[in-house]
Amino acid sequence: MQIQQLNSSDAEAYQFIRLQALRDSPTAFNSSYEEEKKRPLSAFAESLSLSPSRTMFAAFNSSKIVAIISVGRESRKKVNHKGSINGMFVAPSHRRQGLGKQLLTHALRFADSQTGLIQLTLVVNASNISAISLYKSFGFKSFGIEPTAAFIDGVFHEQMHMVRLTQYTT
Ligand SMILES: CC(C)(COP(=O)(O)OP(=O)(O)OC[C@H]1O[C@@H](n2cnc3c(N)ncnc32)[C@H](O)[C@@H]1OP(=O)(O)O)[C@@H](O)C(=O)NCCC(=O)NCCS
Repeated sequence: MQIQQLNSSDAEAYQFIRLQALRDSPTAFNSSYEEEKKRPLSAFAESLSLSPSRTMFAAFNSSKIVAIISVGRESRKKVNHKGSINGMFVAPSHRRQGLGKQLLTHALRFADSQTGLIQLTLVVNASNISAISLYKSFGFKSFGIEPTAAFIDGVFHEQMHMVRLTQYTT
């Protein structure tokens, strides 16, 4: 599977997988399908435009994106050593084939190549056992559970905050 960094010319394929992610896994993301489906294509293109604060990677099956992940970095000087992993999603048809591991490996290699970026955090629904187990296997550790973190379809969800402090080594 080909993993590539996205840019604004990938907006249409990115919009498709992002909306699929929000529809398929509403409890995994803080954005909702209803909110994001209203965004024009130009807004998706803008979020992919090359910026030092966020980099998006995707796995392509021919021209179709089947998995995505993003790596963000704080821009302000005092917190520029910190980054985050966001928006990870593997299309249901491609799960349990190692693609999540491959994508996270790619994102972490990229993060580790960035000078001075020493801390990565992420937030995951506390009941998302598969994602938590994946993140733990890459060295992320929980540093707390946020109660009533998200309110989705009438139900409050707890979210786990995880951090990975050192460079990932295999
Ligand atoms: C979580 C997710 C990204 C995993 O992707 P994937 O491609 O299926 O993962 P992989 O095949 O690379 O598996 C990697 C590890 O994840 C864990 N895992 C994945 N699916 C699992 C499942 N159904 N049950 C338990 N563990 C699971 C395992 O630790 C697995 O390692 P193993 O195969 O050695 O046991 C995918 O299930 C997904 O997109 N879920 C919906 C969106 C989501 O939850 N995103 C995370 C937002 S924080």
